[in-house]
Amino acid sequence: MNQLILGDNLEIMRKMESESIDLIYLDPPFFSNRNYEVIWGDKGEVRSFEDRWSGGIDHYIAWLKERVSEMHRLLKPTGSIFLHCDWHANAEIKVYILNKIFGEHNFRGDIIWQRTNAHNDAKRKLAVLTDTIWYYTKTDNFTYYPIYSDHNEISSKFYSYNDNDGMGFYQLTDISSPNPRPNMMYDWLGFPFPQKGWRFQKETMQKLHDEGKIYYPKKHDGSFDFSKRPRLIRYLNEQKGLLLGNIWIDINNVQSQSNERIGYPTQKPEKLLERIILASSNEGDIVFDPFVGGGTTIVVADKLKRNWLGIDQSVQAIKVSEMRLNNQQNLFSADFTVLLHKYDYEKLFNQDPFEFEKWIIERFGGNPHGKKGGDKGTDGKMRDGTPIQVKQSENIGVNVIKNFSVSARQYDKTLFEKNQKQNLPVGYIIAFSFGKGAVQEVARLKNEDNIIIKLVQVDEIVPLAKKPKLSIEIKQLSKDTKGLTEIEFTAIATSDAGIEFFSWDFEYSEEEKKFKASIMLDKEGNQSHKFKPGIHNIAVKAVDNEGLEAIEVVKVKVNGVVEAV
Ligand SMILES: C[S@@+](CC[C@H](N)C(=O)[O-])C[C@H]1O[C@@H](n2cnc3c(N)ncnc32)[C@H](O)[C@@H]1O
Repeated sequence: MNQLILGDNLEIMRKMESESIDLIYLDPPFFSNRNYEVIWGDKGEVRSFEDRWSGGIDHYIAWLKERVSEMHRLLKPTGSIFLHCDWHANAEIKVYILNKIFGEHNFRGDIIWQRTNAHNDAKRKLAVLTDTIWYYTKTDNFTYYPIYSDHNEISSKFYSYNDNDGMGFYQLTDISSPNPRPNMMYDWLGFPFPQKGWRFQKETMQKLHDEGKIYYPKKHDGSFDFSKRPRLIRYLNEQKGLLLGNIWIDINNVQSQSNERIGYPTQKPEKLLERIILASSNEGDIVFDPFVGGGTTIVVADKLKRNWLGIDQSVQAIKVSEMRLNNQQNLFSADFTVLLHKYDYEKLFNQDPFEFEKWIIERFGGNPHGKKGGDKGTDGKMRDGTPIQVKQSENIGVNVIKNFSVSARQYDKTLFEKNQKQNLPVGYIIAFSFGKGAVQEVARLKNEDNIIIKLVQVDEIVPLAKKPKLSIEIKQLSKDTKGLTEIEFTAIATSDAGIEFFSWDFEYSEEEKKFKASIMLDKEGNQSHKFKPGIHNIAVKAVDNEGLEAIEVVKVKVNGVVEAV
């Protein structure tokens, strides 16, 4: 689990196991036929856009329905689905998709999320300020925890006191009994009881007093003011908030100045996903977002200790989600994998040899021996026992073939001779490429001794691509009055697949070697940033259309003037 997958969600879902998911949130592209519906603009997304738009609303509904059917199959019987949409198609989605697939009886609510306030155009016409989130479950036995509004929303209104003693905001409430209660009519620390008595019995009053939860009115000299009544102190952080139903007006859309803002339209606020995930899943559950976009759902799921799975057809969406996850990863975070269409040649070439052997043999359909150093010159075997050898290098020479023909015989003599007789391969060698000598030796062995050795290039097993080439240029712009120096960086990148975007880390740590993006989505590759005097490492990442990336780091010394070091 914990995977980000590039591709059309329909194809990927079809390969997934039934009843394996606890919660699905989807925020598919809306039916609006507007340019802003194309968010990333890369090949994958445009393909999907055209796919939905080759017809009108019926086509859109059919496109979505096919996918929602798969989601229904994937949900566990206790699972829930939240489908985020807007006025363009919310009615059709409910009637033609959700009621049909999940059944009207499994409708749990239409969440109305107010994402914006009325602006000027609301003076001319009725402004639509809300989105709809359809909420259905698979059966009537589902996970649900009540939802309470955020404290911030109520704090300013009701909890206005703060002694700055670390306990936060509080309110003072009445502690007189609403009905006459003879057993609560006692004097308390010199304060006479209210007309109908106190709200609490003496023991409870003592307990509240000991916990510092009673406020005593005082005079200027600090002594108790017996003409007023003590009150109960209620701290905001001890309250749950207001119990909520389906109208959510307390979650703001991602604002332009917000920390979580990445810089693409349709990004949903983390608070919204937090509320949905907390209401309908438990720690360790699996949360799935088939239209993951910039990764809001999975970033929140990860924070809340859920397992997760995200799919998007856009390479940019996947890479932005990956970076967001990396930015929040710490020592305790669970690992995750990113599945792209192509693998980075150089990365595989330089990977730990043992890991590489195991990985490529499995992808080839064999079983790795799982022993460092191999077994009699072989690294794994096919199902029938025929040996496999892996060479993590290029241009394999004639000696490798000669040695392998000996090792393959030693590994299993009977099988070797049987394969030889039946004109079957006696073994496989996997490598990045083979030299002419090796190919000729293979031909000679076949002609002279009927020994067939199959040479398999890594790119016949997994699609490979070369990562982008990248360099950075720097230019000092100015030194401002506060002693900060502004530097302009220009990234220059090329890739056969075409460059999609750049990301920047202005505080790259040489020790950790972990890229934590300060700017995640920069289409131009041009940034300026201000630095204090000292030595700084700046890293830029170039991502291409296959999702392959290159990182380049520059070290600059800033001391009135800028020098690359
Ligand atoms: C509205 S955005 C999701 C935004 C996301 N909720 C967030 O907060 O960042 C919709 C996403 O669906 C993706 N998409 C569209 N068609 C798809 C398909 N068939 N398979 C997978 N992803 C698709 C788009 O690339 C886009 O990133």
